[in-house]
Amino acid sequence: MEKILDIITEKMQRAFADAGYDASFGRVTVSNRPDLCEYQCNGALSAAKQYHCAPIQIAKAVVEKLDANDYSLVEAVMPGFINLKLSGLFLQNYLEQMRTAPDFGVEKLGAGKTIVVDYGGANVAKPLHIGHLRPAIIGEALKRLYAFFGYNTIGDVHLGDWGLQMGLIITELQERQPELPYFDPDYTGDYPAEPPFTLSDLEEIYPAASAKKKVDQDFAARAHTATFELQLGRRGYRAIWQHIMNISIPDLRRIYDSLDVHFEKWLGESDADPYIPAMIQDLKDRGFAVESEGALVFPVAEATDKKEVPPCILVKSDGAAIYATTDLATMVQRMQDWNPDKILYVTDKRQALHFEQIFRAAHRSGIVKPETELEHLGHGTMNGKDGKPFKTRDGGVLRLETLIADMTAFVRAKVVENRIVAGSEIDDTTAKIALAALKYGDLSNQPTKDYNFDLERFAAFEGNTGPYILYTIVRIKSILAKYGPWEQLPIQEPSNALAKDLMIAITKFDPALESALKSSAPNLICAYIYDLAGCVNKFYHDTPILKEEDENLKAGNIALLGLAKNILETSIHLLGFSAPEKM
Ligand code: ARG
Repeated sequence: MEKILDIITEKMQRAFADAGYDASFGRVTVSNRPDLCEYQCNGALSAAKQYHCAPIQIAKAVVEKLDANDYSLVEAVMPGFINLKLSGLFLQNYLEQMRTAPDFGVEKLGAGKTIVVDYGGANVAKPLHIGHLRPAIIGEALKRLYAFFGYNTIGDVHLGDWGLQMGLIITELQERQPELPYFDPDYTGDYPAEPPFTLSDLEEIYPAASAKKKVDQDFAARAHTATFELQLGRRGYRAIWQHIMNISIPDLRRIYDSLDVHFEKWLGESDADPYIPAMIQDLKDRGFAVESEGALVFPVAEATDKKEVPPCILVKSDGAAIYATTDLATMVQRMQDWNPDKILYVTDKRQALHFEQIFRAAHRSGIVKPETELEHLGHGTMNGKDGKPFKTRDGGVLRLETLIADMTAFVRAKVVENRIVAGSEIDDTTAKIALAALKYGDLSNQPTKDYNFDLERFAAFEGNTGPYILYTIVRIKSILAKYGPWEQLPIQEPSNALAKDLMIAITKFDPALESALKSSAPNLICAYIYDLAGCVNKFYHDTPILKEEDENLKAGNIALLGLAKNILETSIHLLGFSAPEKM
Protein backbone atom coordinates (compact mmCIF):
# COMPACT_ATOMS: atom_id res chain seq x y z
CA MET A 1 0.00 0.00 0.00
CA GLU A 2 1.15 3.49 -0.70
CA LYS A 3 2.17 5.43 2.39
CA ILE A 4 -0.11 8.24 3.45
CA LEU A 5 2.61 10.85 3.13
CA ASP A 6 3.25 9.73 -0.44
CA ILE A 7 -0.45 9.89 -1.29
CA ILE A 8 -0.94 13.39 0.01
CA THR A 9 2.34 14.53 -1.50
CA GLU A 10 1.19 13.32 -4.90
CA LYS A 11 -2.10 15.13 -4.48
CA MET A 12 -0.24 18.27 -3.47
CA GLN A 13 2.11 18.01 -6.43
CA ARG A 14 -0.84 17.70 -8.76
CA ALA A 15 -2.37 20.80 -7.16
CA PHE A 16 0.86 22.76 -7.68
CA ALA A 17 0.88 21.69 -11.32
CA ASP A 18 -2.81 22.50 -11.78
CA ALA A 19 -2.19 25.96 -10.34
CA GLY A 20 0.60 26.48 -12.87
CA TYR A 21 3.64 25.79 -10.70
CA ASP A 22 6.29 23.15 -10.79
CA ALA A 23 4.97 19.95 -9.18
CA SER A 24 8.22 19.29 -7.34
CA PHE A 25 7.35 22.02 -4.83
CA GLY A 26 4.49 19.92 -3.49
CA ARG A 27 6.34 17.92 -0.85
CA VAL A 28 4.27 17.28 2.27
CA THR A 29 5.76 16.53 5.69
CA VAL A 30 4.37 15.59 9.08
CA SER A 31 3.53 18.84 10.83
CA ASN A 32 6.03 20.33 13.23
CA ARG A 33 3.14 22.25 14.78
CA PRO A 34 0.73 19.46 15.76
CA ASP A 35 -1.35 22.05 17.60
CA LEU A 36 -2.21 23.65 14.25
CA CYS A 37 -2.32 20.81 11.78
CA GLU A 38 -1.37 17.19 11.07
CA TYR A 39 0.60 17.67 7.87
CA GLN A 40 2.09 20.67 6.15
CA CYS A 41 3.60 21.77 2.86
CA ASN A 42 6.15 24.58 2.73
CA GLY A 43 6.66 24.39 -1.03
CA ALA A 44 5.09 27.76 -1.75
CA LEU A 45 7.92 29.47 0.10
CA SER A 46 10.56 28.00 -2.20
CA ALA A 47 8.35 28.39 -5.28
CA ALA A 48 7.96 32.10 -4.56
CA LYS A 49 11.67 32.62 -5.21
CA GLN A 50 11.45 30.98 -8.61
CA TYR A 51 8.20 32.66 -9.66
CA HIS A 52 8.98 36.06 -8.11
CA CYS A 53 5.72 36.51 -6.30
CA ALA A 54 4.37 36.36 -2.75
CA PRO A 55 4.39 32.84 -1.25
CA ILE A 56 0.91 33.27 0.20
CA GLN A 57 -0.44 33.96 -3.29
CA ILE A 58 0.93 30.61 -4.48
CA ALA A 59 -0.25 28.77 -1.36
CA LYS A 60 -3.78 30.13 -1.85
CA ALA A 61 -3.86 29.18 -5.51
CA VAL A 62 -2.69 25.63 -4.68
CA VAL A 63 -5.25 25.20 -1.88
CA GLU A 64 -7.97 26.04 -4.40
CA LYS A 65 -6.92 23.02 -6.45
CA LEU A 66 -6.94 20.48 -3.61
CA ASP A 67 -9.88 18.12 -3.17
CA ALA A 68 -11.73 19.38 -0.09
CA ASN A 69 -13.11 15.88 0.65
CA ASP A 70 -9.65 14.70 1.65
CA TYR A 71 -9.19 17.23 4.42
CA SER A 72 -11.02 18.53 7.44
CA LEU A 73 -8.71 21.52 7.32
CA VAL A 74 -6.80 22.88 4.38
CA GLU A 75 -5.61 26.44 4.60
CA ALA A 76 -2.93 28.77 3.35
CA VAL A 77 -1.43 30.75 6.21
CA MET A 78 1.13 33.53 6.30
CA PRO A 79 3.75 33.74 5.04
CA GLY A 80 2.88 30.83 2.72
CA PHE A 81 2.46 27.56 4.58
CA ILE A 82 -0.23 25.10 3.63
CA ASN A 83 -1.68 23.43 6.74
CA LEU A 84 -3.57 20.18 6.44
CA LYS A 85 -5.74 17.97 8.56
CA LEU A 86 -7.02 14.78 7.02
CA SER A 87 -10.73 14.19 6.78
CA GLY A 88 -12.40 11.38 8.67
CA LEU A 89 -13.45 9.87 5.36
CA PHE A 90 -9.90 9.82 4.05
CA LEU A 91 -8.67 8.07 7.20
CA GLN A 92 -11.57 5.66 7.18
CA ASN A 93 -10.77 4.58 3.61
CA TYR A 94 -7.08 4.29 4.30
CA LEU A 95 -7.48 2.22 7.47
CA GLU A 96 -10.10 0.00 5.91
CA GLN A 97 -7.57 -0.80 3.21
CA MET A 98 -4.95 -1.52 5.85
CA ARG A 99 -7.37 -3.74 7.73
CA THR A 100 -8.21 -5.86 4.72
CA ALA A 101 -4.81 -6.02 2.99
CA PRO A 102 -2.34 -8.80 3.81
CA ASP A 103 0.11 -7.64 6.51
CA PHE A 104 -1.68 -4.28 6.72
CA GLY A 105 -0.57 -3.41 3.21
CA VAL A 106 3.14 -3.21 4.01
CA GLU A 107 5.05 -3.24 0.76
CA LYS A 108 7.14 -6.40 0.24
CA LEU A 109 10.43 -4.63 -0.39
CA GLY A 110 12.39 -7.85 -0.02
CA ALA A 111 10.44 -10.03 -2.43
CA GLY A 112 12.85 -12.31 -4.25
CA LYS A 113 15.76 -11.31 -2.05
CA THR A 114 17.69 -13.39 0.46
CA ILE A 115 19.37 -12.16 3.60
CA VAL A 116 21.59 -14.11 5.97
CA VAL A 117 21.48 -12.83 9.53
CA ASP A 118 24.49 -13.97 11.55
CA TYR A 119 23.63 -13.52 15.20
CA GLY A 120 23.76 -15.29 18.52
CA GLY A 121 27.43 -16.17 18.29
CA ALA A 122 27.31 -18.80 21.05
CA ASN A 123 30.48 -20.70 21.83
CA VAL A 124 30.19 -24.44 22.26
CA ALA A 125 31.18 -25.82 25.67
CA LYS A 126 31.00 -22.41 27.29
CA PRO A 127 27.77 -21.37 28.98
CA LEU A 128 25.94 -18.44 27.43
CA HIS A 129 26.61 -15.31 29.44
CA ILE A 130 24.94 -11.93 29.54
CA GLY A 131 27.09 -10.74 26.62
CA HIS A 132 25.09 -13.12 24.44
CA LEU A 133 21.76 -11.51 25.26
CA ARG A 134 21.91 -8.50 22.98
CA PRO A 135 23.02 -10.19 19.74
CA ALA A 136 20.33 -12.83 20.26
CA ILE A 137 17.53 -10.36 20.93
CA ILE A 138 18.48 -7.75 18.33
CA GLY A 139 19.36 -10.31 15.66
CA GLU A 140 16.09 -12.17 16.11
CA ALA A 141 14.06 -8.94 15.87
CA LEU A 142 15.84 -7.79 12.73
CA LYS A 143 15.48 -11.19 11.12
CA ARG A 144 11.74 -11.18 11.79
CA LEU A 145 11.49 -7.67 10.41
CA TYR A 146 13.26 -8.67 7.21
CA ALA A 147 10.95 -11.65 6.89
CA PHE A 148 7.93 -9.37 7.32
CA PHE A 149 9.15 -7.29 4.39
CA GLY A 150 9.21 -10.43 2.27
CA TYR A 151 12.91 -11.33 2.39
CA ASN A 152 13.89 -14.95 2.41
CA THR A 153 15.72 -14.95 5.74
CA ILE A 154 18.36 -17.37 6.96
CA GLY A 155 19.39 -16.94 10.58
CA ASP A 156 22.69 -18.64 11.36
CA VAL A 157 24.00 -18.92 14.91
CA HIS A 158 27.60 -19.28 13.65
CA LEU A 159 28.77 -21.32 16.62
CA GLY A 160 32.23 -20.81 18.00
CA ASP A 161 33.09 -24.51 17.83
CA TRP A 162 36.56 -24.59 16.38
CA GLY A 163 38.71 -22.54 18.65
CA LEU A 164 41.02 -22.92 21.58
CA GLN A 165 38.22 -23.83 23.99
CA MET A 166 38.04 -27.19 22.25
CA GLY A 167 41.76 -27.80 22.65
CA LEU A 168 41.56 -26.76 26.29
CA ILE A 169 38.83 -29.28 27.04
CA ILE A 170 40.64 -32.06 25.20
CA THR A 171 43.87 -31.36 27.09
CA GLU A 172 42.19 -31.13 30.47
CA LEU A 173 40.30 -34.35 29.80
CA GLN A 174 43.54 -36.06 28.91
CA GLU A 175 45.06 -35.01 32.22
CA ARG A 176 42.09 -36.39 34.11
CA GLN A 177 41.49 -39.59 32.14
CA PRO A 178 44.63 -40.42 30.13
CA GLU A 179 43.47 -44.03 29.73
CA LEU A 180 40.59 -43.07 27.40
CA PRO A 181 41.00 -44.42 23.85
CA TYR A 182 40.64 -40.93 22.32
CA PHE A 183 44.20 -40.12 23.33
CA ASP A 184 45.81 -43.29 22.03
CA PRO A 185 47.22 -42.43 18.58
CA ASP A 186 47.39 -46.12 17.66
CA TYR A 187 43.79 -46.84 18.48
CA THR A 188 41.88 -47.83 15.34
CA GLY A 189 38.61 -49.17 16.76
CA ASP A 190 35.32 -47.38 17.16
CA TYR A 191 35.07 -44.84 19.94
CA PRO A 192 32.37 -45.19 22.60
CA ALA A 193 28.98 -43.77 21.67
CA GLU A 194 28.54 -42.52 25.22
CA PRO A 195 30.43 -39.31 25.99
CA PRO A 196 33.07 -39.50 28.75
CA PHE A 197 31.50 -36.45 30.45
CA THR A 198 28.13 -34.87 31.20
CA LEU A 199 26.99 -31.31 30.64
CA SER A 200 27.77 -30.41 34.22
CA ASP A 201 31.23 -32.01 33.90
CA LEU A 202 31.83 -29.83 30.83
CA GLU A 203 30.72 -26.75 32.69
CA GLU A 204 33.36 -27.51 35.29
CA ILE A 205 36.10 -28.74 32.90
CA TYR A 206 36.16 -25.70 30.65
CA PRO A 207 36.63 -23.01 33.34
CA ALA A 208 39.21 -25.20 35.09
CA ALA A 209 41.18 -25.59 31.87
CA SER A 210 40.83 -21.94 31.01
CA ALA A 211 42.23 -20.97 34.43
CA LYS A 212 45.08 -23.45 34.08
CA LYS A 213 46.04 -22.02 30.71
CA LYS A 214 46.80 -18.70 32.34
CA VAL A 215 49.22 -20.09 34.89
CA ASP A 216 50.62 -23.17 33.19
CA GLN A 217 52.52 -22.41 29.98
CA ASP A 218 53.12 -26.04 29.16
CA PHE A 219 49.42 -26.79 29.50
CA ALA A 220 48.61 -23.81 27.27
CA ALA A 221 51.04 -25.02 24.61
CA ARG A 222 49.52 -28.51 24.67
CA ALA A 223 46.02 -27.02 24.34
CA HIS A 224 47.17 -25.05 21.29
CA THR A 225 48.62 -28.19 19.76
CA ALA A 226 45.43 -30.12 20.51
CA THR A 227 43.37 -27.39 18.82
CA PHE A 228 45.61 -27.53 15.79
CA GLU A 229 45.50 -31.33 15.63
CA LEU A 230 41.74 -31.27 15.99
CA GLN A 231 41.57 -28.90 13.01
CA LEU A 232 43.92 -31.17 11.06
CA GLY A 233 41.52 -34.02 11.68
CA ARG A 234 43.03 -36.20 14.41
CA ARG A 235 40.47 -38.98 14.82
CA GLY A 236 40.30 -39.23 18.59
CA TYR A 237 40.02 -35.48 18.99
CA ARG A 238 37.28 -35.24 16.42
CA ALA A 239 35.40 -37.89 18.40
CA ILE A 240 35.70 -35.85 21.60
CA TRP A 241 34.69 -32.76 19.67
CA GLN A 242 31.56 -34.57 18.47
CA HIS A 243 30.70 -35.52 22.05
CA ILE A 244 31.09 -31.89 23.12
CA MET A 245 28.84 -30.75 20.28
CA ASN A 246 26.20 -33.38 21.07
CA ILE A 247 26.04 -32.30 24.68
CA SER A 248 26.42 -28.57 24.29
CA ILE A 249 24.12 -27.77 21.37
CA PRO A 250 20.86 -29.06 22.90
CA ASP A 251 21.61 -26.97 25.96
CA LEU A 252 22.26 -23.83 23.90
CA ARG A 253 19.10 -24.53 21.94
CA ARG A 254 17.10 -24.84 25.15
CA ILE A 255 18.20 -21.40 26.35
CA TYR A 256 17.66 -19.73 22.97
CA ASP A 257 14.22 -21.38 22.86
CA SER A 258 13.39 -19.87 26.22
CA LEU A 259 14.19 -16.48 24.68
CA ASP A 260 12.03 -17.29 21.66
CA VAL A 261 15.13 -17.01 19.51
CA HIS A 262 15.28 -19.56 16.70
CA PHE A 263 17.98 -20.17 14.12
CA GLU A 264 17.34 -21.69 10.71
CA LYS A 265 20.93 -22.88 10.64
CA TRP A 266 23.13 -24.19 13.40
CA LEU A 267 26.34 -23.98 11.44
CA GLY A 268 29.59 -23.08 13.07
CA GLU A 269 33.19 -22.18 12.47
CA SER A 270 33.93 -25.88 11.99
CA ASP A 271 31.61 -25.97 8.97
CA ALA A 272 33.76 -23.34 7.30
CA ASP A 273 36.90 -25.39 7.76
CA PRO A 274 36.62 -27.46 4.55
CA TYR A 275 36.54 -24.23 2.52
CA ILE A 276 39.73 -22.83 3.97
CA PRO A 277 42.51 -24.58 1.99
CA ALA A 278 41.09 -23.78 -1.46
CA MET A 279 40.25 -20.24 -0.43
CA ILE A 280 43.77 -19.61 0.90
CA GLN A 281 45.33 -21.09 -2.23
CA ASP A 282 43.14 -18.94 -4.44
CA LEU A 283 43.90 -15.76 -2.47
CA LYS A 284 47.61 -16.55 -2.77
CA ASP A 285 47.39 -17.31 -6.48
CA ARG A 286 45.64 -14.07 -7.21
CA GLY A 287 48.07 -12.05 -5.09
CA PHE A 288 45.62 -10.97 -2.41
CA ALA A 289 47.34 -12.94 0.32
CA VAL A 290 50.99 -12.21 1.05
CA GLU A 291 53.61 -13.39 3.54
CA SER A 292 54.38 -11.04 6.37
CA GLU A 293 56.61 -11.90 9.35
CA GLY A 294 55.91 -15.58 8.93
CA ALA A 295 52.15 -15.12 8.72
CA LEU A 296 49.88 -14.99 5.69
CA VAL A 297 47.98 -11.71 5.53
CA PHE A 298 45.50 -9.88 3.30
CA PRO A 299 46.31 -6.14 3.27
CA VAL A 300 43.08 -4.15 3.27
CA ALA A 301 44.18 -0.56 3.97
CA GLU A 302 42.76 2.16 1.73
CA ALA A 303 44.26 5.53 0.83
CA THR A 304 41.28 7.33 2.36
CA ASP A 305 41.57 5.61 5.76
CA LYS A 306 41.66 8.07 8.64
CA LYS A 307 42.69 5.37 11.10
CA GLU A 308 45.11 2.60 10.38
CA VAL A 309 43.34 -0.54 9.17
CA PRO A 310 45.76 -3.42 9.70
CA PRO A 311 45.87 -6.35 7.29
CA CYS A 312 43.56 -9.28 7.82
CA ILE A 313 45.56 -12.20 9.23
CA LEU A 314 44.65 -15.41 7.41
CA VAL A 315 47.20 -17.90 8.74
CA LYS A 316 49.24 -17.23 11.85
CA SER A 317 52.95 -18.01 12.01
CA ASP A 318 52.14 -21.25 13.91
CA GLY A 319 49.97 -22.39 11.00
CA ALA A 320 46.60 -22.04 12.76
CA ALA A 321 43.65 -20.53 10.96
CA ILE A 322 41.91 -17.84 12.96
CA TYR A 323 38.69 -15.86 13.38
CA ALA A 324 39.05 -13.84 10.17
CA THR A 325 39.87 -16.96 8.17
CA THR A 326 36.81 -18.87 9.33
CA ASP A 327 34.63 -15.83 8.77
CA LEU A 328 35.89 -15.44 5.20
CA ALA A 329 35.51 -19.15 4.53
CA THR A 330 31.97 -18.93 5.93
CA MET A 331 31.26 -16.25 3.35
CA VAL A 332 32.49 -18.62 0.63
CA GLN A 333 30.02 -21.22 1.90
CA ARG A 334 27.14 -18.75 2.19
CA MET A 335 27.64 -17.33 -1.29
CA GLN A 336 27.92 -20.80 -2.77
CA ASP A 337 24.92 -22.28 -0.98
CA TRP A 338 22.53 -19.34 -0.65
CA ASN A 339 23.83 -16.54 -2.89
CA PRO A 340 22.37 -13.89 -0.54
CA ASP A 341 21.70 -10.25 -1.44
CA LYS A 342 22.84 -9.25 2.00
CA ILE A 343 24.64 -10.62 5.04
CA LEU A 344 23.95 -8.88 8.32
CA TYR A 345 26.17 -9.58 11.34
CA VAL A 346 24.99 -8.66 14.81
CA THR A 347 27.80 -8.67 17.36
CA ASP A 348 29.34 -6.49 20.00
CA LYS A 349 30.60 -3.22 18.50
CA ARG A 350 34.07 -3.97 19.82
CA GLN A 351 34.36 -6.32 16.84
CA ALA A 352 33.89 -3.44 14.37
CA LEU A 353 37.47 -3.49 13.07
CA HIS A 354 37.35 -7.24 12.44
CA PHE A 355 34.27 -6.82 10.28
CA GLU A 356 35.66 -3.80 8.46
CA GLN A 357 38.71 -5.90 7.57
CA ILE A 358 36.87 -9.01 6.42
CA PHE A 359 34.26 -7.01 4.48
CA ARG A 360 37.02 -5.29 2.55
CA ALA A 361 38.81 -8.55 1.93
CA ALA A 362 35.59 -10.26 0.84
CA HIS A 363 34.54 -7.58 -1.63
CA ARG A 364 38.00 -6.89 -2.96
CA SER A 365 38.75 -10.54 -3.64
CA GLY A 366 35.30 -11.29 -5.00
CA ILE A 367 34.55 -13.90 -2.31
CA VAL A 368 31.39 -11.82 -1.99
CA LYS A 369 30.01 -10.29 -5.17
CA PRO A 370 29.84 -6.49 -5.25
CA GLU A 371 26.02 -6.37 -5.22
CA THR A 372 25.82 -8.34 -1.99
CA GLU A 373 25.65 -5.91 0.86
CA LEU A 374 27.65 -6.62 4.00
CA GLU A 375 26.53 -4.94 7.19
CA HIS A 376 27.86 -5.17 10.70
CA LEU A 377 25.51 -3.96 13.39
CA GLY A 378 27.76 -3.45 16.40
CA HIS A 379 25.68 -3.29 19.55
CA GLY A 380 26.60 -1.52 22.75
CA THR A 381 27.08 -3.11 26.16
CA MET A 382 24.40 -3.96 28.66
CA ASN A 383 25.62 -2.66 32.01
CA GLY A 384 24.29 -3.11 35.53
CA LYS A 385 21.72 -0.78 37.07
CA ASP A 386 24.60 1.38 38.36
CA GLY A 387 26.02 1.79 34.86
CA LYS A 388 29.01 -0.40 35.66
CA PRO A 389 29.81 -3.64 33.81
CA PHE A 390 27.53 -6.45 34.90
CA LYS A 391 29.23 -8.82 37.35
CA THR A 392 28.13 -11.53 39.73
CA ARG A 393 28.62 -10.93 43.43
CA ASP A 394 31.98 -12.69 43.32
CA GLY A 395 33.11 -10.69 40.31
CA GLY A 396 32.49 -13.34 37.64
CA VAL A 397 30.52 -13.09 34.41
CA LEU A 398 26.82 -13.55 34.90
CA ARG A 399 25.29 -16.51 33.12
CA LEU A 400 22.48 -15.69 30.78
CA GLU A 401 20.32 -18.33 32.40
CA THR A 402 20.73 -16.65 35.78
CA LEU A 403 19.64 -13.33 34.37
CA ILE A 404 16.56 -14.91 32.79
CA ALA A 405 15.80 -16.74 36.05
CA ASP A 406 16.08 -13.51 38.07
CA MET A 407 13.68 -11.71 35.77
CA THR A 408 11.29 -14.66 35.79
CA ALA A 409 11.27 -14.90 39.60
CA PHE A 410 10.60 -11.17 39.92
CA VAL A 411 7.70 -11.26 37.44
CA ARG A 412 6.32 -14.47 38.92
CA ALA A 413 6.04 -12.88 42.34
CA LYS A 414 3.95 -10.07 40.81
CA VAL A 415 1.77 -12.51 38.89
CA VAL A 416 1.08 -14.47 42.06
CA GLU A 417 0.65 -11.45 44.32
CA ASN A 418 -1.76 -9.68 41.97
CA ARG A 419 -3.57 -12.95 41.29
CA ILE A 420 -3.39 -12.32 37.58
CA VAL A 421 -3.90 -15.99 36.80
CA ALA A 422 -3.95 -19.14 38.86
CA GLY A 423 -2.58 -22.64 38.90
CA SER A 424 -1.28 -24.04 35.66
CA GLU A 425 -1.45 -20.68 33.86
CA ILE A 426 1.04 -18.98 36.16
CA ASP A 427 4.13 -20.30 34.38
CA ASP A 428 3.04 -19.36 30.89
CA THR A 429 1.85 -15.87 31.84
CA THR A 430 5.02 -15.26 33.83
CA ALA A 431 7.25 -16.38 30.96
CA LYS A 432 5.50 -14.08 28.50
CA ILE A 433 5.67 -11.02 30.72
CA ALA A 434 9.28 -11.69 31.70
CA LEU A 435 10.32 -12.07 28.08
CA ALA A 436 8.58 -8.85 27.12
CA ALA A 437 10.31 -7.05 29.99
CA LEU A 438 13.72 -8.37 29.00
CA LYS A 439 13.42 -7.87 25.27
CA TYR A 440 11.63 -4.53 25.24
CA GLY A 441 14.05 -3.26 27.90
CA ASP A 442 16.82 -4.01 25.45
CA LEU A 443 15.21 -3.24 22.10
CA SER A 444 13.79 0.13 23.14
CA ASN A 445 17.38 1.40 23.23
CA GLN A 446 19.30 2.32 20.13
CA PRO A 447 21.23 -0.91 19.43
CA THR A 448 24.58 0.84 19.10
CA LYS A 449 24.33 2.50 22.52
CA ASP A 450 25.08 1.01 25.95
CA TYR A 451 22.22 0.72 28.40
CA ASN A 452 21.69 -0.17 32.05
CA PHE A 453 19.78 -3.29 32.94
CA ASP A 454 17.15 -2.38 35.50
CA LEU A 455 14.98 -5.34 36.42
CA GLU A 456 12.32 -3.42 38.36
CA ARG A 457 11.98 -0.72 35.74
CA PHE A 458 11.87 -3.14 32.79
CA ALA A 459 9.23 -5.27 34.50
CA ALA A 460 6.99 -2.35 35.53
CA PHE A 461 3.44 -2.43 34.16
CA GLU A 462 3.51 1.34 33.60
CA GLY A 463 5.90 3.49 31.62
CA ASN A 464 7.79 2.71 28.44
CA THR A 465 8.09 -1.03 29.08
CA GLY A 466 7.25 -4.36 27.50
CA PRO A 467 4.67 -5.25 30.17
CA TYR A 468 2.88 -1.92 29.55
CA ILE A 469 2.54 -2.81 25.87
CA LEU A 470 1.28 -6.29 26.79
CA TYR A 471 -1.15 -4.78 29.26
CA THR A 472 -2.59 -2.56 26.54
CA ILE A 473 -3.06 -5.53 24.25
CA VAL A 474 -4.64 -7.67 26.96
CA ARG A 475 -7.01 -4.86 27.82
CA ILE A 476 -8.22 -4.50 24.21
CA LYS A 477 -8.53 -8.26 23.91
CA SER A 478 -10.84 -8.37 26.88
CA ILE A 479 -13.07 -5.59 25.48
CA LEU A 480 -13.23 -7.35 22.13
CA ALA A 481 -14.09 -10.65 23.81
CA LYS A 482 -16.94 -8.99 25.67
CA TYR A 483 -18.23 -7.42 22.44
CA GLY A 484 -18.39 -10.71 20.54
CA PRO A 485 -17.34 -11.38 16.96
CA TRP A 486 -15.62 -8.25 15.69
CA GLU A 487 -13.15 -9.40 13.03
CA GLN A 488 -15.37 -8.51 10.07
CA LEU A 489 -16.44 -5.05 11.28
CA PRO A 490 -15.39 -2.33 8.83
CA ILE A 491 -13.52 0.77 9.90
CA GLN A 492 -15.65 3.88 10.21
CA GLU A 493 -14.92 7.59 10.39
CA PRO A 494 -13.37 8.62 13.73
CA SER A 495 -16.01 9.06 16.42
CA ASN A 496 -14.02 11.77 18.24
CA ALA A 497 -10.66 13.55 18.28
CA LEU A 498 -8.94 10.77 20.25
CA ALA A 499 -10.18 8.21 17.76
CA LYS A 500 -8.68 10.34 15.04
CA ASP A 501 -5.32 10.53 16.82
CA LEU A 502 -5.39 6.76 17.10
CA MET A 503 -6.20 6.40 13.41
CA ILE A 504 -3.32 8.65 12.43
CA ALA A 505 -0.99 6.67 14.69
CA ILE A 506 -2.09 3.47 12.95
CA THR A 507 -1.25 4.92 9.52
CA LYS A 508 2.36 5.33 10.67
CA PHE A 509 2.90 1.57 11.02
CA ASP A 510 4.46 1.01 7.60
CA PRO A 511 6.78 4.07 7.71
CA ALA A 512 7.93 3.15 11.23
CA LEU A 513 8.75 -0.41 10.20
CA GLU A 514 10.50 0.71 7.07
CA SER A 515 12.71 3.15 9.02
CA ALA A 516 13.51 0.39 11.50
CA LEU A 517 14.50 -1.90 8.64
CA LYS A 518 16.59 0.66 6.79
CA SER A 519 18.54 1.76 9.84
CA SER A 520 18.68 -1.63 11.61
CA ALA A 521 16.89 -0.06 14.55
CA PRO A 522 14.21 -2.12 16.31
CA ASN A 523 14.03 0.75 18.82
CA LEU A 524 11.98 2.61 16.20
CA ILE A 525 9.35 -0.14 16.39
CA CYS A 526 9.34 0.21 20.18
CA ALA A 527 8.91 3.96 19.93
CA TYR A 528 6.10 3.44 17.46
CA ILE A 529 4.14 0.97 19.58
CA TYR A 530 4.67 3.02 22.71
CA ASP A 531 3.04 5.94 20.93
CA LEU A 532 0.30 3.72 19.51
CA ALA A 533 -0.41 2.16 22.92
CA GLY A 534 -0.64 5.68 24.39
CA CYS A 535 -3.23 6.64 21.75
CA VAL A 536 -5.19 3.44 22.43
CA ASN A 537 -5.25 4.06 26.17
CA LYS A 538 -6.29 7.71 25.85
CA PHE A 539 -9.05 6.81 23.42
CA TYR A 540 -10.27 3.96 25.58
CA HIS A 541 -10.12 6.03 28.75
CA ASP A 542 -12.24 8.89 27.42
CA THR A 543 -14.65 7.07 25.13
CA PRO A 544 -17.49 4.82 26.23
CA ILE A 545 -16.84 1.65 24.25
CA LEU A 546 -19.07 -1.19 25.46
CA LYS A 547 -21.45 1.28 27.10
CA GLU A 548 -22.05 3.14 23.82
CA GLU A 549 -25.76 2.91 22.99
CA ASP A 550 -25.57 3.71 19.30
CA GLU A 551 -24.78 0.26 17.87
CA ASN A 552 -23.23 1.63 14.73
CA LEU A 553 -20.91 3.97 16.60
CA LYS A 554 -20.03 1.13 18.95
CA ALA A 555 -19.15 -1.15 16.04
CA GLY A 556 -16.90 1.55 14.57
CA ASN A 557 -15.00 2.01 17.82
CA ILE A 558 -14.63 -1.74 18.23
CA ALA A 559 -13.32 -2.11 14.67
CA LEU A 560 -10.73 0.56 15.39
CA LEU A 561 -9.60 -1.09 18.61
CA GLY A 562 -9.43 -4.44 16.83
CA LEU A 563 -7.14 -3.02 14.17
CA ALA A 564 -4.96 -1.35 16.81
CA LYS A 565 -4.69 -4.66 18.67
CA ASN A 566 -3.69 -6.56 15.53
CA ILE A 567 -1.01 -4.00 14.76
CA LEU A 568 0.34 -4.10 18.30
CA GLU A 569 0.41 -7.89 18.27
CA THR A 570 2.16 -8.00 14.93
CA SER A 571 4.70 -5.46 16.16
CA ILE A 572 5.56 -7.40 19.31
CA HIS A 573 5.84 -10.55 17.25
CA LEU A 574 8.48 -8.74 15.20
CA LEU A 575 10.25 -7.74 18.39
CA GLY A 576 10.17 -11.37 19.47
CA PHE A 577 7.59 -11.70 22.24
CA SER A 578 3.88 -12.27 22.65
CA ALA A 579 0.99 -11.31 24.92
CA PRO A 580 -0.68 -13.52 27.52
CA GLU A 581 -4.47 -13.83 27.80
CA LYS A 582 -4.69 -12.03 31.13
CA MET A 583 -2.62 -9.52 33.02
N1 ARG B 1 31.54 -16.51 18.68
C1 ARG B 1 31.90 -15.13 18.54
C2 ARG B 1 32.13 -14.50 19.91
O1 ARG B 1 31.79 -15.07 20.93
C3 ARG B 1 30.84 -14.34 17.83
C4 ARG B 1 30.58 -14.77 16.41
C5 ARG B 1 29.97 -13.67 15.60
N2 ARG B 1 29.80 -13.99 14.21
C6 ARG B 1 30.77 -14.02 13.31
N3 ARG B 1 30.49 -14.41 12.09
N4 ARG B 1 32.00 -13.65 13.58
O2 ARG B 1 32.68 -13.41 19.96
